[in-house]
Amino acid sequence: MTAADRANPVERIPLLLPDMPRADELVGLLREIDEHRWYTNFGPLARRFEAELARGFQAPCPLAVVSLANCTLALELLLAACRLPAESTILVPTLTFVATGTAIRRAGHRLLVADADPLSWTLTPDIARAAAAAQRIDCVVAVTALGCPVDAAQWDAFSEETGIRVIVDAAGAFGNQQAGQRIALAFSLHATKTMGIGEGGFVVSGDREWMERVRCLSNFGIDPGDFKVHQAGTNAKLSEYHAAVGLAALARWPERAALRRKLALEYRQCLQAHCAGIGFQQRPDAGAYATFCVLLPAGADPALVAARLADAGIETRRWYYPLLHLHPAFADAGTAGKLASSMSISGRLLGLPFHLDLDAGKMERVARTLARVLREA
Ligand SMILES: Cc1ncc(COP(=O)(O)O)c(C=O)c1O
Repeated sequence: MTAADRANPVERIPLLLPDMPRADELVGLLREIDEHRWYTNFGPLARRFEAELARGFQAPCPLAVVSLANCTLALELLLAACRLPAESTILVPTLTFVATGTAIRRAGHRLLVADADPLSWTLTPDIARAAAAAQRIDCVVAVTALGCPVDAAQWDAFSEETGIRVIVDAAGAFGNQQAGQRIALAFSLHATKTMGIGEGGFVVSGDREWMERVRCLSNFGIDPGDFKVHQAGTNAKLSEYHAAVGLAALARWPERAALRRKLALEYRQCLQAHCAGIGFQQRPDAGAYATFCVLLPAGADPALVAARLADAGIETRRWYYPLLHLHPAFADAGTAGKLASSMSISGRLLGLPFHLDLDAGKMERVARTLARVLREA
């Protein structure tokens, strides 16, 4: 850094900036908690939050929602509620965040990693069908990679045709992912997601029995009928305070989602105008996303590009890096077919700053700096 740089430090552009309800949006809801004197254990705010969440989905059937402490526990409990034998084989895309693997492992099962579609970067029913034709699969955990929705109707059809249960790790796809009749979705409401409440999550499905088993497991496994534990669960309940933030977040959601949608479209145009050779995930334009990733041109080193952007005050992240089965904890995962698309995407993917504090000037700065770094690299 030169003396001139030290005198005029560039404004840092962070990768993420959480967008949470403000204190004054929460006050009325916190007063309700005071009145109820009910702080957790499926309280009135948590139940209202669940009902409002369920109303937000278009589905071919009535849906059940269970609010939970986070998405990782949601996935673990969905698997536990399937009551599969220990060490069952769970098909999962290797292009995902580590929490997907953590949940499978903590539920006591074996990972079988599969490739992702080269355009949407998600595991598709066709990929799962090919894997199921080659070996026994007991359950599929598909992933809405970087918020890109999967086709709920197609996964319902896959589950019906094969008898295999399907869970969708929809951690980052709140507002984008539709629900299904047979499949179950798990969403994250972590502060960094599009609709953050601090820590939180929920599951949704047309399979009400499955959802009620998850609710029971989230309360230690205590059966609400006889108050006995027939299957050990854990404590994964959402507190009334988190539900209050959730209700406030839902009230502002349509406006915040529209801002994210607009920003993502402008950002893409700006990047396309400045950076020749970069690629994008094929995802619905109408989606509200928490992250914005690009595929660097073939041959560019993401670690080097990230370091040069950091020098220029621009924070980036190699999301889903390394691939799930390349983490030491998951090195014993089986492999279903070739992982060529996942390896190619993972070797070129770079997450750029994306949050509601970005404006045209900051987008332009990111795009111009990335173009310069790519020219020099
Ligand atoms: C794909 C995926 N699955 C699961 C999770 C975990 O969600 P949570 O932090 O709510 O446990 C995340 C979080 O970023 C994620 O990206």
